Amino acid sequence: MAAFLLGAVLLIVQPQIVPSRPAINSNAETSSQSVQRELLKKTSQKNDLKENIHSNGSCQQLPQTIIIGVRKGGTRALLEMLSLHPDIAAAESEVHFFDWEDHYRNGLQWYINQMPFSYPHQITVEKTPAYFTSPKVPERVYNMNQSMRLLLILRDPSERVLSDYTQVFYNHMQKHKPYPSIEQFLIKDGELNVDYKAINRSLYYIHMQNWLKYFPLDHIHIVDGDKLIKDPFPEIEKVERFLKLSPQINASNFYFNKTKGFYCLRDSGRERCLHESKGRAHPQVDTRLLEKLHEYFHEPNKKFFELVGRTFDWHSFVAS
Ligand code: A3P
Repeated sequence: MAAFLLGAVLLIVQPQIVPSRPAINSNAETSSQSVQRELLKKTSQKNDLKENIHSNGSCQQLPQTIIIGVRKGGTRALLEMLSLHPDIAAAESEVHFFDWEDHYRNGLQWYINQMPFSYPHQITVEKTPAYFTSPKVPERVYNMNQSMRLLLILRDPSERVLSDYTQVFYNHMQKHKPYPSIEQFLIKDGELNVDYKAINRSLYYIHMQNWLKYFPLDHIHIVDGDKLIKDPFPEIEKVERFLKLSPQINASNFYFNKTKGFYCLRDSGRERCLHESKGRAHPQVDTRLLEKLHEYFHEPNKKFFELVGRTFDWHSFVAS
């Protein structure tokens, strides 16, 4: 709790910077780009869409990969780590194209305009963690590109709830607004408050079912967010393979920073950690309440494991 409060006092607002690597020249069009071009031709807006070509040969184009979530799963760490690869061009901020009606109404040209300039051999990536839990999004992404490669980073659902609470708590602190304690959200009438939004976002199998209506499992790569925290390189290697990228990210691109308590990035001799809003201390929660939370997630987690044919090392307390 002390660390949590200390962190709250040390609030400093800083912009988040996602480096988009300077691109290297190449004239070869990748197969995913030609597929994308074909798909765009089929859209009703085909005559209106422009890829905004720069005089240096780079252009803005629709993403071929999206990090769809989950909120507080480690999405920023994943994007920044993946951006170490020279063939990745990442959108700087969260675009919220498919989940915000105001943005979606603007159409695909607006979406293209939010993308970084990239060279033909590069894969454009955007991340909007809210996509994973927004019911309309899977169909909308499918309508844009059926062959989209999706990245989903998940972490222990109970830990994710605490992280979710912590983020909103800090947002309120920044605006000098009071915010209730986590217990006030987690308990209702002496029971676990399963209506708490943060709990719903951690019911991964429900959201995953929506995505699997539109995309086959082999188009959705799940990154283990807990492993990415403890040892990022093997998780990033798997992402490189999934995206069919040449293996260019190395173990030496990561080093553990004792002060931060997390892995940080090393790129061409430059070292940097994620923004201070990533890796905050969580509030201390009463052990019995935490056990209730673990117990509540036991069945949903099992359903999720069955759905994706894979297990994760998440807390799963079952009362005896
Ligand atoms: P906490 O701040 O609760 O610890 P997102 O980017 O999706 O909002 O996820 C934020 C989470 O990323 C952080 O949650 C943190 O645990 C996790 N994370 C993973 N790798 C990290 C890293 N190298 N540095 C900082 N945070 C990291």
